[in-house]
Amino acid sequence: MTRVVSKQLVPVYDKPMIFYPLCTLVRAGVREILIITRPDERDLFGRLLGDGSQWGLDLRYADQERPQGIAHALLVAADFLVGGSALLLLGDNIIHSVDLDRHLAAADQIDGGLVFGVPVADPRPYGVLDVDERGVVRDIVEKPLDPPSHYAVPGVYGYGQDVVEVVAGLTRSPRGELEITDVNREYLRQGRLRVRLLQRGTAWLDTGRFDDLMAAAEYVRVVQERDGVKVGCIEEAAWRAGLLDDAAVRQLAIPLRASGYGDYLLRLLDGPRPARSAVLG
Ligand code: G1P
Repeated sequence: MTRVVSKQLVPVYDKPMIFYPLCTLVRAGVREILIITRPDERDLFGRLLGDGSQWGLDLRYADQERPQGIAHALLVAADFLVGGSALLLLGDNIIHSVDLDRHLAAADQIDGGLVFGVPVADPRPYGVLDVDERGVVRDIVEKPLDPPSHYAVPGVYGYGQDVVEVVAGLTRSPRGELEITDVNREYLRQGRLRVRLLQRGTAWLDTGRFDDLMAAAEYVRVVQERDGVKVGCIEEAAWRAGLLDDAAVRQLAIPLRASGYGDYLLRLLDGPRPARSAVLG
């Protein structure tokens, strides 16, 4: 299927996968977002997300000609990154975590690097933290056969202004990519890497295999049904962040009524007013 549609556009229950990381960015206070895609998929993303103005965002697009690693995306984004620190999110990582939202909202200007650790049953497919008994990070190991801990590093990273220089100084890994783990290890070496271990209640959902994707959709469905609050609803996140007023939400909702998504948005407008401190969906 991913020969004809980007994985990040595949639905996770009731919305495209990319909505989830986009919401994380909106709640973190980010408004200017560069979406890096394969050249042949750029139009698909453009058709779905446009220029972001419908949500009060400034979305731009850039191409990564061929897969060269996550860190390579920072080189693609070099011009965009000038003049400020940045968050880098992977479009297929869904993290439902108030703890993460709080950390990101607090990370205003980042100097160096910021990464997170999330305990997972099997960390082998990920970057894994090597932590000593006091919780101090000694190293980060990419896809270890024998993981030094259960703390995997999810696809949410914060970087200061010098990150492009750091990436430019890297050499490619055996799989021919510029590894994001090598960026983080360089900041660690310089003593400029902040690592936050996310606490209980964090759901980091993988979408790499069929069962993972199904589990992610099921998680979203169960949480939404129980709470009555959507996870990863970009319109709601923008409204709660004060980027959209009621009239704008109503306008977005009307064409989406047949699926139930629009009715959800309309119901929001009858509920409590957005409180800036609330971290939802
Ligand atoms: C990448 C990173 C890895 C990180 C993971 C999160 O893995 O290299 O460190 O833990 O994303 O999803 P990849 O997508 O290359 O398998």
